[in-house]
Amino acid sequence: MTPTTSPVARSIRIVLGALLAVAAPALGGAAEPELTVRAGQPGDTISRYLYGQFAEHLGRGIYDGLWVGEDSPIPNTRGFRDDVVGALRELRIPVIRWPGGCFADEYDWRDGIGPRDERPVRINKSWGWVEESNAVGTHEFLDLVELLGSEAYIAGNIGSGSPREMAQWLEYMTTTGDTTLARLRRANGRDEPWKVAFFGVGNETWGCGGNMTPEYYTDVFKRYSVFLKAPRENSPKRIASGGQDAQTDWTEALSKILQTTPGYLNSLDGISHHYYTLPTGDWSKHGRAIGFPEEEWISTLSRTLRVDGHLAAQEAVLERNDPEGRIGIYLDEWGTWYDPEPGAAHGILYQQSTVRDALVAALNFNIFHRHAARLHMANIAQTVNVLQAVVLTDGDKMLRTPTYHAFAMYLPFQDATFVPVEAAGVPAYALGDFSVPQVSASAALSSEGSLVVALVNLHARDGIELRVQVAGFEAGSASGRVLTGDAIDAHNSFEEPDAVAPAELAVDRSAEGFGVSLPARSVSVVTLSRR
Ligand code: AHR
Repeated sequence: MTPTTSPVARSIRIVLGALLAVAAPALGGAAEPELTVRAGQPGDTISRYLYGQFAEHLGRGIYDGLWVGEDSPIPNTRGFRDDVVGALRELRIPVIRWPGGCFADEYDWRDGIGPRDERPVRINKSWGWVEESNAVGTHEFLDLVELLGSEAYIAGNIGSGSPREMAQWLEYMTTTGDTTLARLRRANGRDEPWKVAFFGVGNETWGCGGNMTPEYYTDVFKRYSVFLKAPRENSPKRIASGGQDAQTDWTEALSKILQTTPGYLNSLDGISHHYYTLPTGDWSKHGRAIGFPEEEWISTLSRTLRVDGHLAAQEAVLERNDPEGRIGIYLDEWGTWYDPEPGAAHGILYQQSTVRDALVAALNFNIFHRHAARLHMANIAQTVNVLQAVVLTDGDKMLRTPTYHAFAMYLPFQDATFVPVEAAGVPAYALGDFSVPQVSASAALSSEGSLVVALVNLHARDGIELRVQVAGFEAGSASGRVLTGDAIDAHNSFEEPDAVAPAELAVDRSAEGFGVSLPARSVSVVTLSRR
């Protein structure tokens, strides 16, 4: 990010599909900020999988958060909390990744089947060194997937498991025949195979997944994937474990598979990538979830925008090695990662989610939409009680975080058609070493035929008046929702679970489009019906 010496608003003329970091003085002085939505220039489909989730055996993500067990006084369906499942169903979660994360590469799937009281108790050596009861295993997770109306993304173990174990897990879940594994599944209560839509061949193999090099892992991937077979009609997409942040060497090595290995021996549908947003960018001192200064508000937003460049870098490699576009990017872990609250146990990763996190989510969505051609999936880390969670629980209480509300507001973007937005006269918001455009926008034609326009005001203190011109769309009525908070760390607590919640946004319709007044630190979504 280019440091700026002046916090004074400077005009930017950009197409919001381009990198956001360039701020240039406007010709002829300050212009009124104005956006133009080019609805007559439809682009790629914004896959619903860009709104995916990730739930790992970590802290209170699975146990307490999703699962309380059938005997719990907390209302549940076959062990899963009704309140949490109900809230998550409203988000129409398209896909959920499980069981890790780092946990995936220590997980033995056979520990999680059969009578629950006979399952082995292990130590979760990745997270907190706590006892893992294995009460949630394959049957329970895939039941949750069905309760949510979602799809399964299974993360396999290559770090400490064998190709045979991975292959047999997939066979257990998907086989239709009368094999020993199919009989075992039936004996454990599931007659029909489950649909397994996605299968990850390892996780973060550069670190907790086995500490490998890209070249070594590429051969490991090929070896495991050769044996990872399922019935043709229920064959998951195979995702290789890739790099993080600005790294491209993993994508480079893996995408060369296509050039050097016959297709039937590689089966590579996607390469994962991870990007976490830390206010400081420093893994030894991330920055706090609440009670942070404005410097960390802007640094967080600025750092999260870097995912744009990270995705573009992967795309450039893939354009070279896979010009036919067969391999997708799977950003299967993203979100904010703060320091634990003082006194919190180690390895639990419980954090509050504030209005800042809602903006982080919305900025990521706006970026994801622009990369929809190659970005096939994105999974926020993580669903409940861990990192940038959409839901937090405390005993029998549950709350929706501001991040939850951002997901809910963006629902019309699932499977919508991207349309470009041009911006003129949008000022920069600058503080200290960071400068970002004050407004981020994204627009799409929803599958229901309306035009949706998402608008994020990144400024911590200043609202902004915006005119939005709409071209190529006969607009009828307009409605809007806005999410903001009364402070930069405004959040929902169990005492005040609706302190940060969406409200109606006044939309001033005109012949050309509409005008809105965006409050400071806000996410808005305007919907225009087709006339
Ligand atoms: O999401 C928490 C952890 O972050 C995951 O287990 C790991 O893949 C990543 O480092």
